[in-house]
Amino acid sequence: MLRQYCQEKGKIIDHALAEFVPGENVYPPAIFEAMRYSLFAGGKRLRPILLMAAADSVGAKGSDYLNVACGLEMIHTYSLIHDDLPAMDDDDYRRGKLTSHKVFGEGMAILAGDGLLTKAFTVMLAQPAVSGDVLIKVVREISSAAGAKGMIGGQVIDLSSEGEIIDIDTLSYMHQAKTGALFKAAVRAGAQLAGAEQWQVASLTEYAEQFGLAFQITDDILDVTGTQEKIGKPIGSDIKNRKATYVTLYSLSEAKTMANQAVNNALEALSQFGTEADILREMVRSLLTRDN
Ligand code: IPE
Ligand code: IPE
Ligand code: MG
Ligand code: MG
Ligand code: MG
Repeated sequence: MLRQYCQEKGKIIDHALAEFVPGENVYPPAIFEAMRYSLFAGGKRLRPILLMAAADSVGAKGSDYLNVACGLEMIHTYSLIHDDLPAMDDDDYRRGKLTSHKVFGEGMAILAGDGLLTKAFTVMLAQPAVSGDVLIKVVREISSAAGAKGMIGGQVIDLSSEGEIIDIDTLSYMHQAKTGALFKAAVRAGAQLAGAEQWQVASLTEYAEQFGLAFQITDDILDVTGTQEKIGKPIGSDIKNRKATYVTLYSLSEAKTMANQAVNNALEALSQFGTEADILREMVRSLLTRDN
């Protein structure tokens, strides 16, 4: 069921992204080429799919919110382009292909990231069929999640913790900010665009926080146990950069137990929901067995 859902929504998302960031009749073509290179490199589209699944879970049609969903994927893709730069994680592969700066050079990779980040807001603010009040609230939350109090703040802690031993509070802040914030914004956006009731938004928020934590713990685990062929990015990147992760602070098996716990908490947060939330349930469960 999950596989089919992801395939179906993935197609809709890809099609919309191709329209939002066209490759033909654009000027200057070089920037559009670089933006599209990373956008269509084979990402899992988890954030837009989560937005849709959250809207579905409260009885709406998630694919009605394609603009906001695609905006999230653009912000996420920009964050990966910059994350891979030599001044950051200095990685050569992403999504199974050479990283942006390896293909286009550092200057163009920085600009491709900037282009995607700014275009995301143009696209999100053009979301049809949603009241202006709701859209402003949602886009404002997304911008804050992507900013210094969210993803950027987390990336700052990540960078400044290289070679350092940090405590569990700092580590969990870092995970919740660099990765969790955007997942939380995605789920809350889906719920709020769909007009969810307050208790539903609260439960889905708890679900998303636990999802984000489980996701980044498994990302840390895959950096050690994964294969480049499957994850599409170099393994051992965290070790190379002497990063603080769940695997360096704890043992591999402790990290797995913590991921398990986060998944159970996420499922618990959905206990008041019926079968409409089954995709969300499957999505979080699948984190424990993911290999990419
Ligand atoms: C990777 O995110 C970056 C992190 C936040 C850990 P994803 O694993 O969702 O990457 P793509 O979009 O599928 O490439
Ligand atoms: C990056 O975390 C999170 C972002 C905000 C991009 P990582 O540095 O662990 O992500 P990967 O492993 O390179 O995908
Ligand atoms: Mg990083
Ligand atoms: Mg990285
Ligand atoms: Mg990682």
